[in-house]
Amino acid sequence: MPLAAANHATARSRRVAAPASEVRVARLADAKKAAAPVAVVDETFYRQLVASMRNGVLAITRKGTIAVINDVAYRVFGLPNRPDDVGKPFAEVLRHHPEVLRLLGGAFDLSHLPNRAELRLRSLGKVIGYTLCHVKDDAGAIGGAVLFFKDLTHVEQLEERERLRDRLAALGEMAAGIAHELKNPLAGLEVMAGLLRRQLQDSPDALSILNDIVSEARLANAIVHDMLEFVRPLRLQVEKVVITNLLRDAITMAESKVSPGETRVIAQLAPDLPKISADPHQLSQLFTNLLVNAYEALGGKGTITITGWREDIETIGETTLDVLQSPAVRIDIADDGAGIPGEVLDRIFDPFFTSKPEGSGLGLAIVRKIVGAHEGSIDVATRPGEGTCFRVMLPVAPLSMSRETFSNFHGRV
Ligand SMILES: Nc1ncnc2c1ncn2[C@@H]1O[C@H](COP(=O)(O)OP(=O)(O)O)[C@@H](O)[C@H]1O
Ligand SMILES: [Mg+2]
Repeated sequence: MPLAAANHATARSRRVAAPASEVRVARLADAKKAAAPVAVVDETFYRQLVASMRNGVLAITRKGTIAVINDVAYRVFGLPNRPDDVGKPFAEVLRHHPEVLRLLGGAFDLSHLPNRAELRLRSLGKVIGYTLCHVKDDAGAIGGAVLFFKDLTHVEQLEERERLRDRLAALGEMAAGIAHELKNPLAGLEVMAGLLRRQLQDSPDALSILNDIVSEARLANAIVHDMLEFVRPLRLQVEKVVITNLLRDAITMAESKVSPGETRVIAQLAPDLPKISADPHQLSQLFTNLLVNAYEALGGKGTITITGWREDIETIGETTLDVLQSPAVRIDIADDGAGIPGEVLDRIFDPFFTSKPEGSGLGLAIVRKIVGAHEGSIDVATRPGEGTCFRVMLPVAPLSMSRETFSNFHGRV
């Protein structure tokens, strides 16, 4: 490490940082020894200073050799730490980083050096934030250049996530606004169709067209309803819930939304199913959506099996890192329909993904949001031609039931 220049820098910085008494001593010493610099710390200190820095430090000489390179620099550049790199041409040591070579290669031609700039290291997919300085001697002659830098990849990812969250929140608000606006005209359409129906009693053709209009309006209304459910912030109204009753209601609700045809429903619920702390309205919506999908997958023929157990799930203790066994309720909703093809499976929880001509694609997105708000989990197992089983795990007593969950983007799956 070239220490002569560094010693001068200390004498200067010491005058700035030292308490008044020390400054006086230094001035006396200056007066006595004329231009001789006062060495307050030794060479080892400078080596340790550079080594302890939390930034990457890379200094080069005018000849293009490495003068200083610290551990952080090696780590950020993804290079093995080799002490004999000092003295080697930087073009050799950093040959895998053409962006850095370009920057250092031009360091002595620039009069205005980049400060707090960013550089993308393509080979590593990293972004570094850096400042480039000249190393000058007492006479102001440039003897080298030094790059101070930091890995910004993590910061960048956080910012990107933050921006995405903002965009989604704005999108959610917009969707909620549109849905509200659409609700009224759709309700009006249904009322007016009702009035018209009375006047068209003698005209079966016109009546059938009118019925089509009404069912299309109802479909649009259902989509608007789902959209509102999906974007609306979820405020849970928590009670002790008996799952058995809730599932019975969900079956009735699902059957009112689809044509059950000859579908058989078998419920096998363990008698010791504990009550759980949950929002009954939200859970009913969750199971209704899963059951509606099961009915739709069967198209009026087949069997839906609902199974419920008490299980233990592993959670991390609130104040310690102990793994606790917390009681939970596990509900499986299985159908023996066509199953979900592999290419579709990855997307079923995505909002607006649907394989049905009249689907909203929001049913499972809402399910995921509700499960997440209850700190539960959902899994799906499917086999083409044999059927599909959705498994929902809900803790009996979630840790933070008071939490507000905004849209499913924060939900856990
Ligand atoms: N039980 C099931 N069997 C087969 N496919 C299913 C089942 N449940 C969900 N899916 C698939 O997941 C997609 C998304 O479901 P969902 O979010 O409820 O939207 P939608 O029912 O409006 O299409 C469905 O379109 C379907 O392709
Ligand atoms: Mg659905």
